[in-house]
Amino acid sequence: MTIYDLLIVDHNKVKQLYREMLIHSGKEQEDLFNQIKTEVLLHAHAEEEIFYKHLQKRDSLDSQIEHSYSEHQEVENQLEEITSKISSGEEWLGIAKEMMQNLSHHIEEEENKLFPEARKIIDKNEEKELGDQFRLQKNKLADKG
Ligand SMILES: [Fe+2]
Ligand SMILES: [Fe+2]
Repeated sequence: MTIYDLLIVDHNKVKQLYREMLIHSGKEQEDLFNQIKTEVLLHAHAEEEIFYKHLQKRDSLDSQIEHSYSEHQEVENQLEEITSKISSGEEWLGIAKEMMQNLSHHIEEEENKLFPEARKIIDKNEEKELGDQFRLQKNKLADKG
C-alpha cells in the first residue's frame, strides 16, 4: 500500500472508533476513548517522522507542514486534557467533541490539500517506500508503548 492508503486507513479507523464511542457510555465509552487516543498518537507521530519530514525537504511546503504540526499539537493537548478529566471523574464528552471537530478538520485538510501537493513531489516508487517506512515506524512506536 502507498503512504496515502495507509494514512487514510488510519483516518477512517479513528472516525469509526469515534462513532462507536458516541453510542456507548460509562467504562466502554472510556475504553473507546483510550483506543482513539492510542491510535491518534501513533498515527500522528509516525506521520510526522515519515511523511511530514519527507515533505519538509521542499521549501514550498514549509508553511503547510508547520500548520499541520500545530494542529497535531492542539489535538494532543486536548487528548491529555480529556485523560485528566476522566481520571478526576469530570465530564469530558464536550471536549472530546471539540477534539474530534479539530481532528476532522485536520484530516480533511490532509486528504484534500496536503496529499495533492505531496503527489506532485513524491513519485510512484517513493509512495510505496514511504508506506513501508510508515508501517515500520508505527510498529516501532507501538512497541515502545
Ligand atoms: Fe493524518
Ligand atoms: Fe496529521
